[in-house]
Amino acid sequence: MLAGGTRIVVVMVGLPARGKTYISYKVSRYLAWLGVNCRVFNVGEYRRKLVGAKLDHSFFDPYNAAAIDQRLKCAMMALHDMFKWFGDVHSGVAVYDATNTTRSRRKMILDECNKHDVEVMFCESWCDDNDLIDMNIREVKRTSPDYKGVKDIESVMADFRRRIDHYGEVYEPLGGDGTRPLAKGAYPLPPTNPTLEDYNERQVSFLRKINVGSRMVINRITSYLESRIVYFIMNIHIATRSVLFSRHGESMYNLDQRLGGDPSLSPNGKKYAEALPSLISKLLGDQPLTVWTSTLKRTSETAAGLPYKKMQWKALDELDAGLCDGLTYEDVEREYPDEYAMRDENKFEFRYRGGESYRDVVLRLEPVIMELERQQNIMIVSHQAVLRCIYAYFLDIGPDELPYLKIPLHTVMKLTWTAYGCDIQMYKIDIDAVDTHRAKPKAVKRGGILKSSSTNGSANASIASPAKSQASSSKLPLESDTGLSPAPAEIDAVGKGFVSTIPTSVTEDKPSINK
Ligand code: ADP
Ligand code: F6P
Ligand code: PEP
Repeated sequence: MLAGGTRIVVVMVGLPARGKTYISYKVSRYLAWLGVNCRVFNVGEYRRKLVGAKLDHSFFDPYNAAAIDQRLKCAMMALHDMFKWFGDVHSGVAVYDATNTTRSRRKMILDECNKHDVEVMFCESWCDDNDLIDMNIREVKRTSPDYKGVKDIESVMADFRRRIDHYGEVYEPLGGDGTRPLAKGAYPLPPTNPTLEDYNERQVSFLRKINVGSRMVINRITSYLESRIVYFIMNIHIATRSVLFSRHGESMYNLDQRLGGDPSLSPNGKKYAEALPSLISKLLGDQPLTVWTSTLKRTSETAAGLPYKKMQWKALDELDAGLCDGLTYEDVEREYPDEYAMRDENKFEFRYRGGESYRDVVLRLEPVIMELERQQNIMIVSHQAVLRCIYAYFLDIGPDELPYLKIPLHTVMKLTWTAYGCDIQMYKIDIDAVDTHRAKPKAVKRGGILKSSSTNGSANASIASPAKSQASSSKLPLESDTGLSPAPAEIDAVGKGFVSTIPTSVTEDKPSINK
């Protein structure tokens, strides 16, 4: 996906509370999932480290000379760390997350990036929907470290609105042609950048997302990766919706612990399929839903009773085990011992002979993820390996853990959105099913020699950033909007989330939940 030596920075632009950080983390998670080195550099985090949090709006006054100096210092520190990071990873995508609301600041960033051979793509979020902005402040900004300990939400709202007004005084939206004078007093130019006259933003690469995508302006996007990023940002939206996942019900192959194939459901799998419509209607009420299945029998049989529009995706078919299709793990170990050991050594990269690796599955799922971002309420009925890959995208899980995620049978997973990431609630229907999870072995036997199993060693998929904890936060416990309260349970080390066990009597009005 990324040619060696390619270094791109997505420079965010926009007033506060326009979703810049939200977009930054989404882009970062998407690219990391696809195996691209990616990291967010958030200038606000540098500011909090350098001058502390809890500064009132006056710090953001564009005529506050002392603060201007400090803000420029923070911006430069983040840039400096970003160039250092590019030096370490050689190729990758950085997201430079700050307001960057003046042309002078943007020209400075462009000049610095040119010096360091980093390609710049600006991404502006412009929004004049005051209700939405107020909601963003209420939902996200009041929990920011900037307002830690402040109980009175109205004082947070008032201070943050004043902060936005300060930025608004000098805001120059992207795309100016260099004829406008620089806003007086704002962001003095560093000595290396004495003039803006020749800085014509119509000549730089940018995407402007206006009012959450009701209008977009795309300017001079040239490279393949830039166009992928643009397409992704164009597709993401913030409308409230439900996204649900489930494996198919237990299959006849599951009973025998066989891989792959195209078997039908087992008797218990059929019971799960029968119980599913009632749980989904409890989770969703009367909202519309589209169900996506794979093209394999076991997923369409599982979804058969769901009274919603359905669509089949070949891309949702289970990981192709190639030569090992139809075998059990024991058969594979006996008949193909080297391959069995190689898979344990690096499960994410291992490609079955004539089949696929987890990395292959991630790549073929990319259009599914893109479409999922565009859509409203979706339920995906698919398979163990495929759902691990989808789960890893939403929960920001790297390639070491991904192939070992526990995605139990007879369990519905529901995504819930946090400030900059997602969590998953799990609803287990209480119908017996076999466990198809095979834990990561402590040691791998290859060529008769016992070796400790290593990590995948793929350092690509990491989003290291000061705000990582906020990006993929597990704010637990979660509340369920169905009145079914999910309880902490079986998802261990690698799984983040909850399992509630819903008895087969799920069709009753008030299902009791085994915690
Ligand atoms: P900023 O970084 O611009 O200060 P944040 O990313 O912290 O803003 O704001 C997060 C909020 O913005 C989330 O509630 C999210 O739903 C919302 N949001 C995401 N994208 C957009 C957008 N394009 N326009 C306006 N709000 C958005
Ligand atoms: O066992 C069920 C199954 O979906 C198989 O069809 C598939 O090969 C396997 O799980 C994938 O899981 P793992 O990668 O852990 O072998
Ligand atoms: C910040 O301090 O939160 C910030 C984003 O910095 P700036 O507006 O100076 O880019």
